[in-house]
Amino acid sequence: MIVGVDYYPEHWEEERWPVDADLMAEAGITVVRMAEFAWSRLEPAEGRFEFAWLDRALDVLASRGIQAVLGTPTAAPPAWLVEKHRDILPVDELRQPREFGARLHRCLANPTFRRYSRAITAAMAAHYASHPTVIGWQTDNELTANRCYCDHCAQAFRAWLEQRYGSLDALNAAWGTVFWSQDYSAWSQVPLPWRTACGAMAHNPSLLLDYDRFASDTAVAFQREQIELLREHCPNHFVTHNYMGLHDSVDYYALAADLDFVSWDNYPTASAALPHDVMRGILRKNFWVMEQRCGHTGWNQMSPAPRPGQLRVWAWQAVAHGADAVVFFRWRSCRSGTEQFWQGILNHDGQPGRRYREIAALAEELKALAPELDGTTPRNPVAILYAYDQIWALQIQPNAPGLSYRRFVEKYHNGFTRNGIGVDVVATDADLAGYRLVVCPPLTLLDEALAARIERYVADGGNVLLSARTGVKDERNIARAEPLPGPLARVAGAVVDEYDALGEGTNAIELVTGARFKASTWCDILREDGAEVVARYVGDYYAGRTAITRHALGKGKAWYVGTLAEPRFYLHFLRAIADELGIPRVTGLPSGIEIAARHGNRGSVLVVTNLTAAPHEVELPMPCWDPVAEAMVTEPIALDPYGVRVLRTKG
Ligand code: GAL
Repeated sequence: MIVGVDYYPEHWEEERWPVDADLMAEAGITVVRMAEFAWSRLEPAEGRFEFAWLDRALDVLASRGIQAVLGTPTAAPPAWLVEKHRDILPVDELRQPREFGARLHRCLANPTFRRYSRAITAAMAAHYASHPTVIGWQTDNELTANRCYCDHCAQAFRAWLEQRYGSLDALNAAWGTVFWSQDYSAWSQVPLPWRTACGAMAHNPSLLLDYDRFASDTAVAFQREQIELLREHCPNHFVTHNYMGLHDSVDYYALAADLDFVSWDNYPTASAALPHDVMRGILRKNFWVMEQRCGHTGWNQMSPAPRPGQLRVWAWQAVAHGADAVVFFRWRSCRSGTEQFWQGILNHDGQPGRRYREIAALAEELKALAPELDGTTPRNPVAILYAYDQIWALQIQPNAPGLSYRRFVEKYHNGFTRNGIGVDVVATDADLAGYRLVVCPPLTLLDEALAARIERYVADGGNVLLSARTGVKDERNIARAEPLPGPLARVAGAVVDEYDALGEGTNAIELVTGARFKASTWCDILREDGAEVVARYVGDYYAGRTAITRHALGKGKAWYVGTLAEPRFYLHFLRAIADELGIPRVTGLPSGIEIAARHGNRGSVLVVTNLTAAPHEVELPMPCWDPVAEAMVTEPIALDPYGVRVLRTKG
């Protein structure tokens, strides 16, 4: 278990560095991440690399036993580079450059920028390859898709399409360019999604989806180039990247393919259980939090301060979901620049205060419990499928106001969490065999291969929950020509007869057991074809028609849920399904109390977190061992506001 901090020695007088390092060491901080925005100090003029200051900072840290992760500084190209090569600036949909002055002012497809990115990466990698304090690398910072509309991108997009489709005829056929006379007779005619006469989103949805894929691939290729250099020079260092939580413009699976493990930046306001699970699911292994909130957030105005205990509970929630390191952002509030009010562990005055003491206590606690936690990882009975091209398809065409892939994921994830059921969030091509239940949010883009995999999983004894807007399109983003849910109709044992894009409107559903819930956003009106009815609509012209079905197929079952409902529904419905499938759950968990487990060879560690400002009492699902009190716990446990209990179980 690592407690770390993001440190910017270049912002401070050198005489202060030993004071910082002493304070870090006293707080139990053992790792710092550095340098990811220091390009102008590492290469102050073209080809003039200056590492001496960073060497000295590393020496100061090393002498206190603190190790370092270095960032490649390419998210903030220096002014001299932009002045010399203005064409590296990214361009917007109106073909206007985005100017220097903040950060991210670079097009990742620009060959000149790529050359400078390789040069600084190679120079740093060569210089630090055998530095004893450096343990690993972070590529760039919070990569997003390269949504740039410059001429380089236009050319690269056409090349990408040629590679994918082979010929213009195939492209025209794949995209259905006959609509609005868009047939292309030369590659040079194929546009980027520049702002059209009817707005940016009026483009052909097939073009928009391929552009999303291309923009994501560009970021992945940019990162790969850095990773190749880092691996070549530093074979003993790890390489990771700090993901931006639930940001979804880059295919996070593709971005992770070349990494040792995933890291992410966690600035929680509400529960971060879902993004933690998404991050663990990318490589299906434990991860780091590379930036963890430690104070006010905000650039020009500040959010409310974290309450006493909140830093601890957020850190424990991360660990409970699979974090092996929690690195706090940042060491000290910076005195200059855009982020002056994004608070560090220390304030501008550099004095250790309440938050410093809370983090020091946390580091001590994690150190004491490390023997319980080391080598353990979460392992859950339920999976939710999470796929970027599905997300993008529904961003391009949400189908109805308020409908998004994320909304389905959040509703289900929250329903399981409220029932104390752990969830893995995994790719559509993940091996599903070990899961009792797999939730499929709208698989809008459905091909026969994915449908067949799901069908086999169910036939072999798996259980799925299918969602509205499944099977609407194929992978080219062309509408399928068959009743919904297309190739999954056989699994559902039902077809969609009609649908109603409710948007802001409301309806209600009634389960055959009698319970009623509000329904919103979308209503599929189902016709059973082998399935049984689980719920019917209550209102409107389709009152009494089927909203939810259940279908037994082979050794498994498939539920089809044709609508989105209020949170209470998911608590109730998923509880019933868990009981039917024998998935263990926790009864009477108060809202805001979460239970998550890590498993290892020696048993399991249960982490109970109270994310609320109120005290709560929680009944544990089984008798547990308290390794701190060295006693069995059989009675309900009392949790203070933002309280945490770490317990051991056999299971
Ligand atoms: C993160 C970013 C950091 C810092 C922080 C606070 O998203 O990676 O560099 O900007 O936000 O704004």
